[in-house]
Amino acid sequence: MSKSVAIVTGAAGDIGRAIAKRLADDHDIVLLVDIDEPAARKAAANLGAADRFAVFAADITSETDTAEMAKAASGLGMVKTLVNNAGAARAVSLHDTTPAIWRADNALNLEASFLCFRAVEDMLKASKGSVVNIASVNGLAVFGHPAYSAAKAGLLHFTRLVAVEYGKFGIRSNAVAPGTVRTQAWEVRAAANPNVFEEAKRWYALQRVVDPVDVANAVSFLAGPLASAITGVCLPVDCGLTAGQAELAHTFSQSEHY
Ligand SMILES: NC(=O)c1ccc[n+]([C@@H]2O[C@H](COP(=O)([O-])OP(=O)(O)OC[C@H]3O[C@@H](n4cnc5c(N)ncnc54)[C@H](O)[C@@H]3O)[C@@H](O)[C@H]2O)c1
Repeated sequence: MSKSVAIVTGAAGDIGRAIAKRLADDHDIVLLVDIDEPAARKAAANLGAADRFAVFAADITSETDTAEMAKAASGLGMVKTLVNNAGAARAVSLHDTTPAIWRADNALNLEASFLCFRAVEDMLKASKGSVVNIASVNGLAVFGHPAYSAAKAGLLHFTRLVAVEYGKFGIRSNAVAPGTVRTQAWEVRAAANPNVFEEAKRWYALQRVVDPVDVANAVSFLAGPLASAITGVCLPVDCGLTAGQAELAHTFSQSEHY
């Protein structure tokens, strides 16, 4: 029996590390893929033994690198789960978005997931495995960072495209759309406004922001047998952000109960 492998891209980041940790519960080996090799090595070493947490340094926007990534994964065992987690946003408004930024955000937040999927699809067919794409609430409504958001909206459709075309092979494809998660991706905004998370809470029904572990638990559910009849969906992990805003409900209804 070959070992079951989970691939997590962007695994040196806060959400990626939490996902890698969680997926180690039901995979023999987790392959941490990241462009930042020292950070990925440090993350893997902190997570556990080298035979449970392997590292592959790759720029997942490169077809050559994603092919090498697939080769490295096949050397470890059979890929059961691919988590397309690496992502980043470069410009806050359309006004600030250059053509180069537009293309770079699309390359990382959308095209890279296509490249990673195509690179490992034969192994996913053999294992009847699944893909979990880390999208964002930015792919569902407008919250700033336009190029990133358009790419995340595309990622949600890519999720459905894989579900419909590859369902016959037993491959499932789902997405998670996190709301605000306190990670290093927020460093610049938190430096500009130390209250940014406190201010964000008022828009969330649960009056808190998301923790990386919340995202990891949703990924584990979607990748695992409890979700065996679920494919092509987007699961918001957003503390209720996309359900609605109490302040707005109060204005519209004039009810004291919001
Ligand atoms: N933090 C949030 O509030 C939030 C909200 C919604 C969605 N997300 C999504 O969650 C995912 C993880 O976000 P995070 O906050 O942990 O980010 P992060 O910046 O902490 O981590 C991202 C990781 O991706 C890696 N990476 C970047 N470019 C890469 C490339 N070309 N090839 C390989 N690796 C690359 C980085 O080195 C980094 O380790 C992203 O897709 C992000 O869009 C985050």
